Amino acid sequence: MDSGFIKSILISLAIALGVVIVVNVIGELSVRPRTELAAPERKQTEKAAEAPKTEAPAVPAEAPAQDIASLLAAYSPDAGSTAFRKCKSCHSSEKGGANRVGPNLWDVVGREKAAVPDFKYSDAMKLKGGTWTYRDLDLFLANPRTFVRGTKMSLKGFSDPVLRASMIGFLRALSDNPKPLTE
Ligand code: HEC
Repeated sequence: MDSGFIKSILISLAIALGVVIVVNVIGELSVRPRTELAAPERKQTEKAAEAPKTEAPAVPAEAPAQDIASLLAAYSPDAGSTAFRKCKSCHSSEKGGANRVGPNLWDVVGREKAAVPDFKYSDAMKLKGGTWTYRDLDLFLANPRTFVRGTKMSLKGFSDPVLRASMIGFLRALSDNPKPLTE
């Protein structure tokens, strides 16, 4: 083999290598912008798919309630009667009190739902079932219309758990025998 032949093989190899490199670089340049564009697009569609989840109400009906018993343990009657001002226009609180827009609330803790005999409850409330536990009261006061879909208690609800605990503490005291805190 003469050195001229080897030289020409080496040169053609070098040229081939050069072509491969150039093709690679061009390929990368033309592909990269597309992948860069595709990434944010993908993120956007992912976001759109997630959106309905984030629109859930701030206080979903079945969210685990705060530790209502410990909040109730810190109950202050002053805070309770202040909080109950938000309820007074529709509810009487004394034993044997008249129904107003809403039913009398004497002894409501532990009472069956929709149990005041001469009050016209919504079907939704009648169908809800169970007794008024602290947890149910907490969920109801956080968002009445989420907890009892179709309730006629037109109230937006209260996001502050301490305020709700004050209301529930007030309701708990409306009894000859207030229920234990563990109930
Ligand atoms: C605008 C009037 C209105 C206000 C204000 C209001 N309620 Fe009511 N409440 C109602 C009505 C009406 C019902 C009956 C709901 C139904 O039948 O769906 C009701 C039902 C209830 C019940 C269920 C009673 C039962 O016998 O099952 C509780 C507990 C209650 N309200 C607590 C409260 C508390 C605590 C407040 C104050 C934060 C409050 N409500 C404020 C109108 C009101």
